[in-house]
Amino acid sequence: MSAREDSLEQRSREAALTDEVVASFSTARDPRYREVMSSLVRHLHAFVRDVRLTQDEWDIAISFLTRTGHMSDDLRQEFILLSDVLGASMMTVAVNSPARSGATESTVFGPFFVENAPLIENGDDIGAGLSGRPCHVSGTVRSVTGEPLPGARVEIWAADDEGFYDVQRDGAKLAGRAHLFADENGDFDYWTVQPAAYPIPHDGPVGTLLDAAGRSPMRPAHIHFMVSQEGYETLITHIFVEGDQWLQNDAVFGVKESLILPFSEHPPGTGPGGRRISETWSSVRFDIVLATSTDD
Ligand code: BEZ
Ligand code: FE
Repeated sequence: MSAREDSLEQRSREAALTDEVVASFSTARDPRYREVMSSLVRHLHAFVRDVRLTQDEWDIAISFLTRTGHMSDDLRQEFILLSDVLGASMMTVAVNSPARSGATESTVFGPFFVENAPLIENGDDIGAGLSGRPCHVSGTVRSVTGEPLPGARVEIWAADDEGFYDVQRDGAKLAGRAHLFADENGDFDYWTVQPAAYPIPHDGPVGTLLDAAGRSPMRPAHIHFMVSQEGYETLITHIFVEGDQWLQNDAVFGVKESLILPFSEHPPGTGPGGRRISETWSSVRFDIVLATSTDD
């Protein structure tokens, strides 16, 4: 057999294996499951063939995934981190958020959300006990046609100026996170501390992956928002601090131009709500637009 015939034979054997595995899903009861699994198998096989994956490399991959699983539980989700650093989380956000809808852009959820964060009133301060410059956050929640959305639920969470979330500090109380409701004009505001850039958890297999790639684990400074209102798509997003040195280099690819906002600096004095502030403080305005729900 010539080398050419040999490689034709090899290629057709490999293609036949893909066809056989895809066909094994043809009896799936759920058509969407069939579609997703068939595509996954085709792409996975194409990848193995593309890089001519060696047996040793496959063993390393299995061991990596096993360590990732061992490091995943309710508190630490190494698989989500893996999805984040591979851009899979942001690609899922991208395919589910139609471009040019007029709504505020979404970004990655991250692992530091806590259910049932305290309810606060507009104007309250959630920065007490956190290190960092006082920061006033305000905005209006509207529909894409510009109507204010009174009563919209706004969840917020952020790291402090040392780059830590409350839940990362031993025995710490919840801080820097809360939920509130937009007022009758769709307006909301609260005080917090201006967050700093921080590294994603990198003491596990995902850290090893980043290190092998010569990549940084840093995320630019940001505040997380989850905004919901009946009849509208829930928005999961952040705002980023304009000028942050990590904006071009986010470990999880979450930055979008429209979400980078100026945090204005103010001298000590009187702030919104008549608050007396004896140190430099900052303020940011984030106007939020929710897309109409596509659910029936
Ligand atoms: C976060 O912003 O909280 C985050 C997002 C992805 C991975 C790790 C942290
Ligand atoms: Fe975060």
